Amino acid sequence: TTVFVPCDAAALAVGADKVVAAIEREATARGLEVEIVRNGSRGMLWLEPLVEVRTPSGRVAYGPVKPSDVSSLFDGGFLEGGHHPLGHGETHDMPYLANQTRLTFSRCGITDPLSIADYRHYKGLTGLEKAIAMTPAEIVKEVTDSGLRGRGGAGFPTGIKWNTVLGAKADQKYIVCNADEGDSGTFADRMIMEGDPFVLIEGMAIAGIATGATKGYVYTRSEYPHAVRMMERAIEIARSEGILGASVLGSNHAFDMEVRMGAGAYVCGEETSLLNSLEGKRGIVRAKPPLPALEGLFGKPTVVNNVMSLASVPVILDRGAAFYKNYGVGRSHGTIPIQIAGNVKHGGLYEAAFGLTLGQIVYEIGGGTASGRPVKAVQVGGPLGAYFPVSLFDTIFDYEAFASKDGLIGHAGIVVFDDTVDMVQQARFAMEFCAIESCGKCTPCRIGSTRGVETVDKLARGIEPEKNLALLTDLCNTMKFGSLCALGGFTPYPVMSAITHFPEDFAPTPLIEA
Ligand code: NAI
Ligand code: SF4
Repeated sequence: TTVFVPCDAAALAVGADKVVAAIEREATARGLEVEIVRNGSRGMLWLEPLVEVRTPSGRVAYGPVKPSDVSSLFDGGFLEGGHHPLGHGETHDMPYLANQTRLTFSRCGITDPLSIADYRHYKGLTGLEKAIAMTPAEIVKEVTDSGLRGRGGAGFPTGIKWNTVLGAKADQKYIVCNADEGDSGTFADRMIMEGDPFVLIEGMAIAGIATGATKGYVYTRSEYPHAVRMMERAIEIARSEGILGASVLGSNHAFDMEVRMGAGAYVCGEETSLLNSLEGKRGIVRAKPPLPALEGLFGKPTVVNNVMSLASVPVILDRGAAFYKNYGVGRSHGTIPIQIAGNVKHGGLYEAAFGLTLGQIVYEIGGGTASGRPVKAVQVGGPLGAYFPVSLFDTIFDYEAFASKDGLIGHAGIVVFDDTVDMVQQARFAMEFCAIESCGKCTPCRIGSTRGVETVDKLARGIEPEKNLALLTDLCNTMKFGSLCALGGFTPYPVMSAITHFPEDFAPTPLIEA
């Protein structure tokens, strides 16, 4: 019997390895043959470790499993999909999964992440095979026509970026995958690297063939050791299988890649400081222009794309631009892997076409707060994203709808807060985060964030509230319009949204001096 226990860091963090050991012990004691496959996560994080068993009718899920549950699972005949209080029936019928549209995450949690046979079985490499039969311009057109936009947060059309690199003349071009997933409440990049690394390799190889780049780098964070190991092993396997190397799948295209680790700076997720860091320099932001597409890594034309953008490319090449484009609303095409986190019952990854409302995501999918208290705010798009109150829960999850409400979907991470959150402290946190992470290159961000912390502190203590609120608003405007990159430029979003949507938290309180 085949039993699946995820090797995803989220599952490991709650004891997946101990569950594996317990299953092995119990099977040996009972004289039963069990093959354990370490799959990626299905993304239902409140159920991790989610153990699945392969039965003739399909996979059956149990979770969250503790080592102490294992013997009762065997007693209940879980190897045959038997009944157990932790059982959820057939995995693909579980509503959280059944209601998703998994294009980018189609294999994640299903396959053995390092099995090329599994990867091929679930339609892997067909996108790359189709790309090889096309001209670079045709590949770029397919990606452009699909409507895919940068999933790192900015939403810039991926095909147009590739076209700039394709058109640039140079002896060397690069594909750089931005896997420096630093936003609070985000884990989609990590889940793909740990659960389906070949899809990222395939996407990067397609990007290389499309633009004439022969070398790729995955730049990820030191906090992701499991993802780094998985990517490195997958790259070695891809090389030995002829997917990477001098002749990609026997074609006349060369493409190879490596993984590089950052040293813990949030700003190294900004593409130009990422490039500096990759070059071995201090991770400080470069002014644009020149665009990385024209003068990027080592001054050469470089595609810098987020993991999610690159991992969405194989399915686009496989199923065609129109297939992908037909999902979504307005100018936001395709699917978006939403990451639901914070004080929420059903935290996890939920891939769906653009167009759900924020309320649906928080209540219907996330199940409301874990604490059972009323939702007060959700921060969408990481530490630089705006806080949305419940009154804006009819906002549709797409780039333009969020921008029109002075927010951003960013990397599609959502952090839920209940009514015990103090929005003044959240505003302070945004300024403090910016002060700590600022690269120091420009004044509004470097100095403004520190003055921001001080001003919020004065507000919290009830000192000259009107004057300090006006000062904070003025400071936010200076940072928004005067900063060189998104770190200083977007920090005002959480601050101003807290002030705008939760004025009661900023209302003058009697001055209490210690
Ligand atoms: P941007 O709007 O300056 O650029 C977007 C991308 O398009 C860049 O790669 C840029 O080089 C490229 N581009 C622009 N014009 C081009 C052209 N004509 N040809 C080719 N390429 C072109 O935005 P930026 O500063 O790269 O990203 C800001 C976003 O990053 C924010 O919206 C935020 O949501 C997101 N973010 C994501 C984080 C994460 O962990 N994923 C963390 C922090 C911020
Ligand atoms: Fe550096 Fe901040 Fe300026 Fe960005 S906004 S370049 S992080 S100082």
